[in-house]
Amino acid sequence: MTSGVVALVVVTLLFWFYRTQTTWLESKPYQRSSNDPARTLVVVYSRTGNTLGVAKEVANYFDADLVQIEAPQYSRDLKGQQLASKHADEEVTTTPIKHEPVDLDQYHLVFLCSPTWWFRPAPPLWSFVENHDFSNKRVFLIMTGNSRMKEERTGKFGVLVEEKNGDFLGMLFIRRGRVFWQKTPDQVNKDVFVELREREAMWQMSGR
Ligand SMILES: Cc1cc2nc3c(=O)[nH]c(=O)nc-3n(C[C@H](O)[C@H](O)[C@H](O)COP(=O)(O)O)c2cc1C
Repeated sequence: MTSGVVALVVVTLLFWFYRTQTTWLESKPYQRSSNDPARTLVVVYSRTGNTLGVAKEVANYFDADLVQIEAPQYSRDLKGQQLASKHADEEVTTTPIKHEPVDLDQYHLVFLCSPTWWFRPAPPLWSFVENHDFSNKRVFLIMTGNSRMKEERTGKFGVLVEEKNGDFLGMLFIRRGRVFWQKTPDQVNKDVFVELREREAMWQMSGR
């Protein structure tokens, strides 16, 4: 009897985990509030929608342009999940990506938003950085994740940004929580808002 209950709990958890990794989470469409040329750009890769929701919150806060990266090889099925896992584990940085053309010249501040895959940003964001020059840009990384990131793996991303001439401001990890203990998108957005307000004040004080 007890082993039956344990098996049921395990199967339920596995099913729920699979669903969260393969189902797209919708968020409200984003539109800039002004018509002036944007000074801030938000670039996002999102496999299941959570990071896109966060990126829209950031874009809203800074009245930024938003560019979404597509990487269909990491499809929302078991095959895509396995490839995502393999590439992240092998610390792959170069992978095919698609997005609308970006001219970075007009932007002073660039947010790069990514899910966390094996404790580091997902490969599509590394590829975006490899493909661009960030001279005269301040760059900030935002990662969403269920549990944690690792400094030694994610730190290499900041090094890459600096190799591509960017002024790397650091990173923010948004912990959404696991399985049944996940924050709602509204709670996540509130966390993002508070963090951005603090960062913005800090950057203004330090003149960055
Ligand atoms: C292959 C793979 C590896 C993951 N590794 C981590 C991890 O190391 N740490 C973590 O907190 N979350 C990890 N996650 C969970 C995602 O980072 C998390 O669900 C994220 O918010 C999903 O963002 P998205 O909906 O924008 O794709 C992993 C997910 C996948 C698919």
